Amino acid sequence: MRNILTALALSLFSIGAAPAVLARPPAANAAQDGPLQARPTGDTSLPDQPLVTAKHGMVVSAQHLATAVGVDILKHGGNAIDAAVAVGYALAVVHPCCGNIGGGGFMTIHLADGRNLFLDFREKAPLAATPDMMQNATGQVVKGRSTKTYLGVGVPGTVMGLDEALAKYGTMSRKQVMAPAIRLAKDGFVLEPGDVRILDTSTDAFRAHPNVAAIFLDHGHPWQAGQTLRQPQLARTLQSIADGGTRAFYEGPIAQAVVKASKANHGLLTLEDFRRYTVAWEKPIECNYHEYTIYSAPPPSSGGTTICETLQIIAPYPLAKWGFRSARSAHYFIEAERRAFADRNTYLGDPAFVDNPIGKLLSAEHAAKLRAGIEPDKATPSSEVAGSLGPYQATNTTHYSVVDGHGNAVAVTFTVNSYFGIKQIAGGTGFFLNNEMDDFTSKPHVPNQFGLVQGKANRIEPGKRPLSSMSPTVVLRDGKLFMVTGSPGGSTIISTTMESILNVAEYGMDIKQAIYAPRIHMQWYPDEIFAEPGAFTPSVEASLAAMGYRIRPVHALGDVEAILVNPKSGLLQAVNDPRYPAGKAAGY
Ligand code: GLY
Repeated sequence: MRNILTALALSLFSIGAAPAVLARPPAANAAQDGPLQARPTGDTSLPDQPLVTAKHGMVVSAQHLATAVGVDILKHGGNAIDAAVAVGYALAVVHPCCGNIGGGGFMTIHLADGRNLFLDFREKAPLAATPDMMQNATGQVVKGRSTKTYLGVGVPGTVMGLDEALAKYGTMSRKQVMAPAIRLAKDGFVLEPGDVRILDTSTDAFRAHPNVAAIFLDHGHPWQAGQTLRQPQLARTLQSIADGGTRAFYEGPIAQAVVKASKANHGLLTLEDFRRYTVAWEKPIECNYHEYTIYSAPPPSSGGTTICETLQIIAPYPLAKWGFRSARSAHYFIEAERRAFADRNTYLGDPAFVDNPIGKLLSAEHAAKLRAGIEPDKATPSSEVAGSLGPYQATNTTHYSVVDGHGNAVAVTFTVNSYFGIKQIAGGTGFFLNNEMDDFTSKPHVPNQFGLVQGKANRIEPGKRPLSSMSPTVVLRDGKLFMVTGSPGGSTIISTTMESILNVAEYGMDIKQAIYAPRIHMQWYPDEIFAEPGAFTPSVEASLAAMGYRIRPVHALGDVEAILVNPKSGLLQAVNDPRYPAGKAAGY
């Protein structure tokens, strides 16, 4: 560990940076998502995680058993798409807070033949949904309605998304790629401290529902590390999908069970919602940053657009020369993010419903105009930045990355939104249902549960997908695969993912340094810089304060699951993000 910190410190000095303070929070407390918590400072270093190097394939995910499933598929001749589908289903079992079949997500694919693809399997609002369904008769947003009740549930997309990717670009059968997940659900898996920590966040909610408590509590008590968690109902559900495909989920007893539970609990879901659910192949958002080309998530995600808009604004500035986290480089990065998030929150929504002005937002003229508004030595108050609405923030999610020996790469970010979604399971289906409806605007200009507000472009409409920040991203360098990256963490996903790229591409860090480096985030409102411990030295903090910045210390931003292709050796490199100790990077 000391070596990596020394190396990082040296590399920072060598690029002229102010010495970054590398003290980090203990991993056991590394909160991933949800409203960002103010945290005490003075924590110890993040624990060391090995740098993994591999030649033939690599997987990195937030749960070690899911990573092992992916590597095994690759070793048995599967390609990156086969492995990604297998990891997705495995995460639905071993990482049930976030990995899912009851939610949705996005997949960015780079094929060895050079094509770059994007698959949208985001949830959709039920057909009976209305813009004001989260409000009471007097127009007040009802607290908890979009997060804790069946009204929060969007039509799940994961099963159709994984099946579509496998059918189009995989080489293995559904049964082959689902077998490991079914085994893990049926035979169970031994819980590690990282797994137990996440389960324990929701113990009280599990107690409220006997069918949930029967699985996720041990006779009413939280499961302990070392115990085995078995999920026989989920195993049966997965087996019926393996046997019957998407029809088993969207037209058979699984959909029926969800609709029945929804109706019994004042939800809106119908069998028609499930029958009419579709996934969509979209063109990824593409932009250049120096010699790098970035492919990331288009709407209904805001991720790719906001990353590319920010990068376009900062591209002309010599950030590396000014130094990693020097006051000057931080200032220009933060001001670029502030402006890109203002646009994000004002203009973006589901492309099936909203005309997203992507061309304009990513034009050189727009970047130049925004750049011209940045004052060299002064923070711009968010109230003076164009756009009339506030930001959006969501909660829990998980990302994983896969690269195979042929040069195919897959980045997947998927979610049930909050940890364990609405924390309810329909009957005996065994899987948690999302609360993705909370990603919509419950009421324009009214803060959501995180004290944040959203705009009209993202209002609730029947069959619409809520705006997301998920940013599964592939980076090419001189046309060759260079990096696969992404993160959970609601709106902070955008900063975390972008910083994982910038740390390598701009600041010359290796993958381990890039992941360990403390992160920052600015999302227009609140008008604050979110900063992990050690993100700024005291003198940089003082300079930023003098420029008018307010810094909000946060415990930790999301974990990055990234794979780097070493341009010289061609070897794959990855490291588990120590912010999420249950995760693992592995290859062969
Ligand atoms: N629910 C998290 C996101 O889509 O950004």
